[in-house]
This record gives sequence, C-alpha cells and structure tokens, in this order.
Amino acid sequence: MPSTALKSAAKRVGDLRDRIRDHEERYYVLHDPEITDGEFDQLLKQLGALEREHPSLVTPESPTQRVGGRPVEGFETVSHASPLLSLDNAYGEDDVRKFDERVRNGLRRGEVPTYVTELKIDGLSIALTYEEGVLRRGVTRGDGRRGEDVTSNVRAIRAIPLSLAMKPGGIMEVRGEIYLSRAAFERVNGERKEREEPLFQNPRNAAAGTMRNLDPALVSSRGLGAYVYDVGEGQKGSASAVEHHYELLDAMKRWALPVEPHWQRCPDIESVLAFCREWANRRGDLSFDIDGVVIKVDGLSQRLRLGTTAKFPRWAVAFKFPAEQATTRLIRIEVNVGRTGAVTPYAVLEPVRLGGSRISRATLHNDQEITRKDLREGDIVVVEKGGDVIPKIVKAIVGRRTKGRGVPRPYEMPTHCPQCDSKLNRQADEVVWRCVNASCPAMLRRRLLHFSSRRAMNIEGLGESLIEQLVEKDLVRDIADLYETTVEALEGLDRMGQRSAAKLLREIEESKSVELWRLIHGLGIRHVGEGVAQRLSEAFRSIDDLMAASIEELEGISEIGPIVARAVRAFFDARGNLRLMRRLKRAGLLGTEPAEGSGALRKLSGQTFVLTGSLATMTREEAKVAIRRLGGKVTSSISRKTSYLVLGANPGRKAEKARELGVPAVDEDAFRELINEQPLQS
Ligand code: IVH
Repeated sequence: MPSTALKSAAKRVGDLRDRIRDHEERYYVLHDPEITDGEFDQLLKQLGALEREHPSLVTPESPTQRVGGRPVEGFETVSHASPLLSLDNAYGEDDVRKFDERVRNGLRRGEVPTYVTELKIDGLSIALTYEEGVLRRGVTRGDGRRGEDVTSNVRAIRAIPLSLAMKPGGIMEVRGEIYLSRAAFERVNGERKEREEPLFQNPRNAAAGTMRNLDPALVSSRGLGAYVYDVGEGQKGSASAVEHHYELLDAMKRWALPVEPHWQRCPDIESVLAFCREWANRRGDLSFDIDGVVIKVDGLSQRLRLGTTAKFPRWAVAFKFPAEQATTRLIRIEVNVGRTGAVTPYAVLEPVRLGGSRISRATLHNDQEITRKDLREGDIVVVEKGGDVIPKIVKAIVGRRTKGRGVPRPYEMPTHCPQCDSKLNRQADEVVWRCVNASCPAMLRRRLLHFSSRRAMNIEGLGESLIEQLVEKDLVRDIADLYETTVEALEGLDRMGQRSAAKLLREIEESKSVELWRLIHGLGIRHVGEGVAQRLSEAFRSIDDLMAASIEELEGISEIGPIVARAVRAFFDARGNLRLMRRLKRAGLLGTEPAEGSGALRKLSGQTFVLTGSLATMTREEAKVAIRRLGGKVTSSISRKTSYLVLGANPGRKAEKARELGVPAVDEDAFRELINEQPLQS
C-alpha cells in the first residue's frame, strides 16, 4: 500500500507533468507560450526534485526523461509498419491540373474529389510509433521500407510528445517531418563558424546531420522542430473513426501532436492552385523552410480506390515552388581555397534581395561551369536560390553585355594558389583544381591536426587548441616547423607550463621514429588513407624510393590504382613539398623502414633491378616488393647503372639492351635465390 506521502507526491508529480506537457505544446507546437522560459525551467526543476525524492515515480514518459544519460552506440535498422512512400512532383500549374484529371479518371464517373493542401516542410521524414498513447519508437524513412531507429534522438525533440493527450488506443505509426527553424539554423552555423567547423548548407542538412549524431544531448541543444501529417496505413480506424484526412489532422491536433496549422480544405483544383500561389509568395514569412505544397485527396475511401504505384500514392502530389530568381551585376570572380585544397571560384555580386535575404556571393563550382555559361566579370546575371542556401548563377544576360572595346574577356582560372602561390594541380578526370602544397596556409590547421593524429604520427597533446595557437602566433607554418619548436616558444602559450611544454617536445621527438606508413599517412596526400599508406610503405620501404616512384611503378602495387598513383606523384612533384620533405629528413624523421630481422645493411642495398617478361611463380609486383624489402631499387628502364635484369618468359627489348650494355641478366630461379626464397611448390 503506498504511503500517504507517496500518494500525495504522485499527485503532485502527475499535475506537474500535465502542466509541463501543456506548456511544451504551447511553446513548441502552437508557438504561443504562456509562461517565460525561466518559469518553465522552474517547473521542470520542481518535477526533477520530486522524482529524485521518489524514484519509484519516474516513468519513461516524464518530461525529465527526454535526454537519456549516455550517447548511444549506433542506430539499429528496423522495418516500417507499412512503406513510407514518397511523392510525385508537379512543377507548375499544368502539372497540378493534370494530377486533378488523373484523380477524376481514377474515381467513379461524376465523383468529385475534394483536396487538403498542406505546406511541404523541408526536413527529414520520421515515423513515430505510439502504443496506447505512449511514444515507443522513432524511425527515419531510410529506403522507405526500413529505416534507422533514432528513438533516443526523437525523445530529445520537445515538439514531439512522449505521451499523447486522450491516449488513443492500440499501436499507431504517426508520420511527419523533423526540421530546423531558420533562426536555429543561423545559430548552429554561427557556432560552427566560430569553432571553424564546416558549415551546414541549409536547415534540412543541419536537421539530418543532427539526427544522425549519436548524442541526444546535442539534439536537444540544437532545438529541432517537428510536424506530423499522417498516420500509417490501416491504423487510422483503430485510432479514430475518420473518413477524411482533415478529420485526422484535427484528431492529431487534439492528441497534442504538432500539426502545421496552415493546411486548408479545398473544394476544387482552382482553390488548390490559389493556395499554391499564395504560399509561393508567402514562404518567406514562415520561420522554417518549405519547398512546396502537398496536395492530398481528402476522402480516405477515394484514396483507397486510387491506390498507389510502386513509389507514389496516386492520391497526392507535391507542388514544387519555382526557384526564386533576381538579376544583378557580377562584379568579379574570385577563388577560394578550401580546407582540402580544392580551389573553387565564386562570384562577387552587387548585393540584391533574394528569398528573404540579401545576397552578395554566388557559388560558381568550377571553371568549366563558368566557361559553359560564358560568365564574364561585369555581366548582368540571373541568380537563383534553389534548395540550397547558397545562391547560384543561372545565366548571363548577354544582350546587356558591354560591346566593342569594353567587352569583358572570358574568365581564366588562376594557375597558382592565391594563398601560397604554388602551382595548382588538376587530375585528368576531375574538374576541380587543387593546391597540393602541404604547407599552404589555407589547409595548415587541418593538415597539422591530421599529421599529429593517433592514426598518423601520434603526437599526444598536439590537439586542436594548441595547433590553433601555434598557427595563430605564427610559430608553425608547416609540418617541419613542429620539429624546430622550442620549450621557450611553447611556454608562451595558453595552459602551457614548462613541464607540459617539455612533455610535448618529447612527444614530437619520439614521433621521429614512428613507422614509415604513419609518416606517409600523416603527409595528407589526397586519396592516401591509412591502408594505402601501409601498402606504399610495404612496397617502397623508404620515403626516398616512394618519392622517386613513377606513376607506372605506383600503379603496379596491388590495391593502388591510377587515381592514387597520380595523387602521390602530384604531391611529390609540388616544389613546396620537396622542400618540406628535405626539411623533415634533416630534422631526422625516419626515412627507411627497418629491414626485417635486423637493422643491419640489407642484402640488396645499393643494387638496382629492372624486370622484363613474366615470372611464373610471382607477379611483377611481388618481385618488386621483395627487392625493395631487401633494400634494392626497381627502375623501369635499363642503363649502365642497372645491377641486374630479371628475365621472365617472353622478355621484351630490354633483354637485348642489357646485353649491349653488359648488364647481367638473371632468370627466375637465380632471382629467387638472390631474394632467398624457394620456388613455390606447384
Ligand atoms: S505526405 C504518401 N505531407 O515530403 C505521402 N509529406 O517528397 C507521404 N513532406 O517523404 C508524404 N511535408 O518527408 C507529406 N505535409 C506533408 C509533407 C511531406 C513534407 C515530405 C515527406 C515525404 C516527402 C515527399
């Protein structure tokens, strides 16, 4: 029997929960708060205190239990009760009228459809399962049949009730959209900018990125919103006896679910079109992004008769807003060097209003696009804001271009990096120009962080804030500078005493003798991750040999294709990088991988090999690796300096040349002896 004290606590807890739930709904769903944030926090605190006093009263639906204790390990994949279909698009009024015709043709003769129009929230879809009115699960759309179980994150969204008012019975899958308001998006990006983290492109990406993270506390702090618009197939009856979609929207609202309030019942297609026109103009008034209007047949029995195709319901369509456009002058084209070295041109525009904000920049992607659109500095251009926040240039109005002597010249991409002046590089099958200078200031912080990271040089204590200070104070301009820093220089930094400075220097010193693959990985060569770095280090055994390797030699290594080979070559061909490598070696960084067994001089040190023809017991690649492992070198063409020609079956012209130059040729067996391996048993 519960004590009287517990009984009265239970009552107070129940009252507080009802009040909090009410205020949550007023604030997050109706956007019409009655109390201040401070008063709301007070209520939550009171409830928390009571629950701590009487732990037996805590239930998962309590508003204090939204954010669980720990981040989750990962998300499980689960099936939806019925597939989450997507919508067919209508790109203009004609498409909407055609949709209306299709609907009429699908119904009985003379039967007139009525519609419900809703705003199309630009977020990510979610399916929420309520059992006896209690939120049990939240699952992302995924491929429509199976999605990820993100319940822990969904619970952290205050617009989503943990328990429903009037508790509709049974199991019900409610569908809706999670979004981030524009204001929250600006705030999140502002914080990211401050921390120099990459910015989210638009509120939708930010919402999706937030839901993908594993820490519900972060979800809670981002302030996501949610709107629901449907209940899963076959469940509407169990929840309430509705015959029309509008009744379901009303019912969901009564259950305290967040329903976007601007929906409208439309008796005919003309009023549907009027709604679409109105919101194409008014979308900027909303506090969140929408990308269209969803038009739905209202009658549920009519919907059943219309049915669905494999992908879409035949009873709904998404009217997509046309992208907003404006014209302005393209003042000049500049380039930006990204954190990965990608050099991208962008347009500096005469400021113009577009989609509720003033814009003065537009992305140009790459120089080929500029050429294709024939954009020139000084042109009057049409700019457009599509799904992304960053506007783009649609075209130049060539008729308004200055003629005669003042005609602007076609754009030419700079050949050198605007940050460090090193020559830009572009791979044959790519459109992006890149700065590959490992010391380019545009990439320096990121490069240093990667260099020192655990999977590269593993310099403990050299983290983000320290790197920030080293770069900021101009103490480090490239990787090699790390090896020249002194205790005195380090001591001047924040939170850095003599002891920690000495410790860090010890760490830096120790990094000089890490394995070769760590150095190769740490250099941050494009496409060279940990695995590729290990392959390269196994094959070449010294940084000198790697630096001298031709594209063909690189490609000859198993698991290394032409893209990696070219990236490695481009890296070591950049003049700045050669200087950097020299300095690293002078600093005493490991140049050679120790020979297997001992550190003694290796068997083939100083000897140069050329391979020709095919070997029966090993691939050419394996032969190269074996030679290099023993300290030998492999080159592709014969000269007097060549020590041995390895002669396989069907040798090429190299055999002749070796004879002419007096280079000894060894056959496969002799070669195997040389590298000290027994022929494989067949
Ligand atoms: S109804 C079978 N209503 O748009 C009908 N969808 O392009 C299912 N969306 O995946 C969708 N607002 O994530 C519907 N008011 C609304 C919506 C909406 C946004 C999203 C939804 C869906 C996508 C389809």
